[in-house]
Amino acid sequence: MFNISTSPPLSPEEVKHHIAEYGYVAVEPSSEIDLFSEIQKLKQQKNALVLAHYYQEADIQDLADFVGDSLGLSQKAAETDADIILFAGVHFMAETAKILNPEKKVLVPDLNAGCSLSDSCPPEAFAAFKERYPGYKVVSYINTSAHIKAMSDIIVTSSNAVPIVKALPADWKLIFAPDKNLGNYVMQKTGREMVLWDGVCMVHAIFSFQKVRALRMKYPEAELIAHPECEPALLEQADYIGSTTGLLNYVVRSPKRQFIVATEAGIFHQMRKAVPEKELIQAPTEYSCSCNTCPHMKLNTLVKIYNALLYEMPEVTLPVDILEAARRPIQRMLEMSRELGLLS
Ligand code: 13P
Ligand code: SF4
Repeated sequence: MFNISTSPPLSPEEVKHHIAEYGYVAVEPSSEIDLFSEIQKLKQQKNALVLAHYYQEADIQDLADFVGDSLGLSQKAAETDADIILFAGVHFMAETAKILNPEKKVLVPDLNAGCSLSDSCPPEAFAAFKERYPGYKVVSYINTSAHIKAMSDIIVTSSNAVPIVKALPADWKLIFAPDKNLGNYVMQKTGREMVLWDGVCMVHAIFSFQKVRALRMKYPEAELIAHPECEPALLEQADYIGSTTGLLNYVVRSPKRQFIVATEAGIFHQMRKAVPEKELIQAPTEYSCSCNTCPHMKLNTLVKIYNALLYEMPEVTLPVDILEAARRPIQRMLEMSRELGLLS
């Protein structure tokens, strides 16, 4: 980040140059301003809604209007009457908000905040894959680009994938993309065969089931709770499997006092707030690093959020045909989730 004063502010041309060059507005605001209250003021002045995923840093979660999992965030994005949505998450999440609100300005703090799982499924390769299975319907995890959504029949998230796939017509032959761990889990829970795209999440796939097994010996009273993006060997040991909201709700309602948590570390912030008296233990990874944090999610910072609201850039834009084609499967997901009683 440059150490450039924001007074006088950047010109629109300079802002455009920053976005093209860095993917975000790279200025350091004066150290005298209180970022937290300045962001709140900007939100009010501009009628902006800040949505944050549980994997964001704690301070970002604390300033957001809503913190949630992918389904909750999509629902909020679909319902808002704000003029601007600032999405503190990763790019595919902000794209989903834009697809549901084509007339609104959707901002991200940093355009570089992508997702390696989503990137593992490029549109050309997926189109070729789809051609190998004529007549198949495509169920795509929400962690995909708008271009993949536009090629899909229905979108699912980690919290509704099982009930939605169960409710799809029994004679539909299914492709599931891009997370093969979630796909395997859904097949196991629903008994439905699906052709799986070969992708995994770089954060969830590296939890070590051997180290987790050893940890369970050390904490025999602890329950193991895991996100369905984890590897099957780890999921087999889990006492509860669910989306980030599912995991949070589970630690609240379980009578147990100790939990080994196999998901991205950002969720600990809301868990600690909800159950300060309970002990939360991070599931160990294959490596001796803190690699259970998502490097993409963690690109967002308070400074980038402040600059994004101030300059109303970087903005998420998509070609009109992709916006239109991607909206149908997302709306189908929201409708089915409503019918199945899965929305709050
Ligand atoms: P959920 O938000 O559905 O729990 O998914 C987690 C995730 O990996 C988001 O990138
Ligand atoms: Fe993508 Fe995994 Fe990061 Fe989620 S946690 S944004 S799936 S890389």
